[in-house]
Amino acid sequence: MCGIIGCVSDKDCCGALYDGLKRLEYRGYDSAGIAVLGKTLSVCKKKGGVSNLSGFYAAGGTGIGHTRWATHGAPSDANAHPHTSGGFALVHNGIVENYAALKEELEGEGEVFSSETDSEVIVKLIARYFEGDFLGAVARAVGRLEGSYAIAVICEKFPGELVAAKKKSPLVAGEGRGGLFVCSDIPALSGIADYIAKAEDGEFVHIAKGEINFYDRALRPLSKTFFRTQEELRGAAVAGGGYFMRAEIAEIPRALSDTLSSLEDKDFAPCARILRGAKRMFAVACGTAYHSALVFRDTVEREAGIPVVCHTAGEFRYRPALVGPQDVVVAVSQSGETADTLEAAYLARSRGAFVIAVTNIGSSTLAAAADFTLVMRAGAEIAVAATKSYNCQLLCLLYLAAQLVFFKKDRFPDWFSALSSLAEGASAAMDCFSETDRLADCLKKARAIYYLGRGTDLCTAREGALKVKEIACVFAEGYPAGELKHGSLALVEEGFPVICVSTQKNLLKKSENALAEVRSRGGFCVLFSQYREALADSCAQFSCLLPILPEPLMPVVSVIPLQYFAYKMCIERGLDPDKPRNLAKSVTVE
Ligand code: M6R
Repeated sequence: MCGIIGCVSDKDCCGALYDGLKRLEYRGYDSAGIAVLGKTLSVCKKKGGVSNLSGFYAAGGTGIGHTRWATHGAPSDANAHPHTSGGFALVHNGIVENYAALKEELEGEGEVFSSETDSEVIVKLIARYFEGDFLGAVARAVGRLEGSYAIAVICEKFPGELVAAKKKSPLVAGEGRGGLFVCSDIPALSGIADYIAKAEDGEFVHIAKGEINFYDRALRPLSKTFFRTQEELRGAAVAGGGYFMRAEIAEIPRALSDTLSSLEDKDFAPCARILRGAKRMFAVACGTAYHSALVFRDTVEREAGIPVVCHTAGEFRYRPALVGPQDVVVAVSQSGETADTLEAAYLARSRGAFVIAVTNIGSSTLAAAADFTLVMRAGAEIAVAATKSYNCQLLCLLYLAAQLVFFKKDRFPDWFSALSSLAEGASAAMDCFSETDRLADCLKKARAIYYLGRGTDLCTAREGALKVKEIACVFAEGYPAGELKHGSLALVEEGFPVICVSTQKNLLKKSENALAEVRSRGGFCVLFSQYREALADSCAQFSCLLPILPEPLMPVVSVIPLQYFAYKMCIERGLDPDKPRNLAKSVTVE
């Protein structure tokens, strides 16, 4: 998604803005721009990478920057931000839903637009409403907007000042040695701002006279607490050298250890009564996080006997959900800023449900919206493709499932003590990487891949398919192994690759039957299992031995070779795993 940054400094801010945009790159973007206020306003904006701005320099201590992920209007220099009007320059993250009506109104008053974006209407409104009061003009303009926005605005008439506002898109303000900042996220301020405060919906930030001030929607001053940025989010931007995705896969054992330690310190007493009484649960999330929610559903239903309804958050928002006061809703989100997941959590709370958040960012909007939060300690995840956060989400959700079992049955499940072996198991799963290299070499030209699984392995299959789709751009489908012959088998022909994950003893034969159906139609079968006998008895042409852990914990480690396989496929196909086509890390619009 788009990222915004703004800076007011005693020194020239162009370099700080450029570095900030580099740190925002991970969110996903297709164009970038900077505006600096010196003697006049200088703007440079271009389609393509932030590095296209490296030749731009303008003196001045006040400025704004933007990485754009196109929604309204194709990626182009003209559509890139900042947008300007009447001496104002603006950057925007979000979607102005009523922009067409506003644009028509402004055009009717003689305004001429130079872009196809929804964002340009905001700066035109600000310029129209300006009567000498910078903050007042911004407040009046955003009062006309429907939809979502985080904006940062500078004005030629107000050197050393910046106004920012937010609704539904994230915005933080930070103080650091290099100046005063506003930004879309905390990781992008790591290393430059030591103290951070978050803006809430409807609030304004005004940087002036070397101070950051917050105001409510009626422009009454607010008192905010600035908190120190979390240690684990620092240094994220310097983890470079090679690809972040590869580095983040390598970090999985460390991330699991840290997450387990933090879970062991967590006091579940505040939700004990609720968990003890839970009769039905919901789990909501998007993308990779949704796959971890599916594992949670399977585990809780099987071990605690509580039915769990699992929805993608975007669907949950618009279904006549039966969620109500007796229900527990678990909302899972690495970033804690995904718009659909947030709206699902708000909806659940408004209906009286108890919301438990599982997130990587303790200071995220989701954590603030929930009744109870489990924070994983994956550390900053920069690559768009979620890897280590998925393994840590699974750990958090398995831990939560174990608490549920305890509250319901007065004992922890048998596998609970084995959670401490997960980090070691994850390292052992990496022993598969050299075989996985060979597999990627073999399948690098594949046009499509099926991933099969049964039971909980289906969640892993789905996650494996999502990974290879998003970064290697290979069509893939995660499919229940037993469903193959009900339709999808029609596509299997000579050499068609089918990857099967089979880690549950009672289902080994069933998975093997599906592979046999594929093999007899000429398909290329691959099997991942921790059971040697399953590999030995299989018709698969390619197999890989996973480490042995209690079966309910296998999803945490069986996915690792699939994450790595997607990475290798991406490299083999000459693509950049950290910047997948059309995708953004943090999806802060609906
Ligand atoms: O930050 P979140 O966990 O809420 O993000 C949800 C999805 O957008 C995310 O998992 C997405 O599917 C990843 N790119 C998958 O690798």
